[in-house]
Amino acid sequence: MTRNLNNLLDRSNDIFKKTELEFVMNDIAEIAHYLWNRGWAERNAGNFSMDVTGFFNEKEREHFSLYPFFPLTIAYPSLAHKLLLISGTGTRMRDVAKNPSEYICYVYINDSGSAFHIIGTTPGENTVKPTSELATHLAIQQMLVQRNSSEKVVLHAHVTELIALTQLSAFKTEMAINSLLWGMHPETILFVPDGVGFIPYTLPGTDHIAMATIRGLGKHKAIVWEKHGCMAIGNTLADAFDTLDILAKSAKIYFMCKSAGLDPEGLTQGQLNEIRCFHHSVSDTEPAAGI
Ligand code: 13P
Ligand code: ZN
Repeated sequence: MTRNLNNLLDRSNDIFKKTELEFVMNDIAEIAHYLWNRGWAERNAGNFSMDVTGFFNEKEREHFSLYPFFPLTIAYPSLAHKLLLISGTGTRMRDVAKNPSEYICYVYINDSGSAFHIIGTTPGENTVKPTSELATHLAIQQMLVQRNSSEKVVLHAHVTELIALTQLSAFKTEMAINSLLWGMHPETILFVPDGVGFIPYTLPGTDHIAMATIRGLGKHKAIVWEKHGCMAIGNTLADAFDTLDILAKSAKIYFMCKSAGLDPEGLTQGQLNEIRCFHHSVSDTEPAAGI
């Protein structure tokens, strides 16, 4: 994956000069800045992917198939002919925030989903390689395609507050971690009603963690990797970030109480049920509910 390719097309080509991509770059800059400021992106921590296939018409997509391909260890047939925007491995979110297009790459998947190629930043060169968590991004992106989901974005961050929770044996099950998170603030069950998936520690950057993540994701829109970080899916990067932000808020409240030497009470089951019912009745009539 580290050798240079003599690409036939690079990102300076006119087909990459699209208003939609400009908006995406602005979003990336904003969210990368938040990730760095929250302390969730030390050094090169964190990465993201976005299915941008829909931004390109059929004729434009024909160009992508001309590249040489790198084989994948696992095939992702539902990603055949997809174009994904992916953050570069080793890139710092604080740098991404300043100049997103320099730190991302485009990955095009071949017709069987068994190989990919990278569209370089400069002609004939691939200076940016996709994140080391490529396997997990591909696995989740494939799952989203199979679900025909409107969600096209996957975000990974080292959310300190949630990582800290997974260091405590009491919260190493899906039920325990979700009861804790829902109990700390009403917005958590409101905006993350399906809770988070809990993935026991697995070596990062492997097909193994990708498969464990898919198994654990289920109907959740976020998962927590034990002692490592989180993955969230969303319609936009901001959407995925918001989910992590809400979850982190709950974890923070828990630790603030503990730091003061107190055990937080948590919302009661009755209060949580009331929020769920309120949410269902309001969401039938209104586009969004808030407390
Ligand atoms: P990359 O720099 O390869 O994206 O790795 C960051 C990370 O958080 C790995 O889990
Ligand atoms: Zn990580």
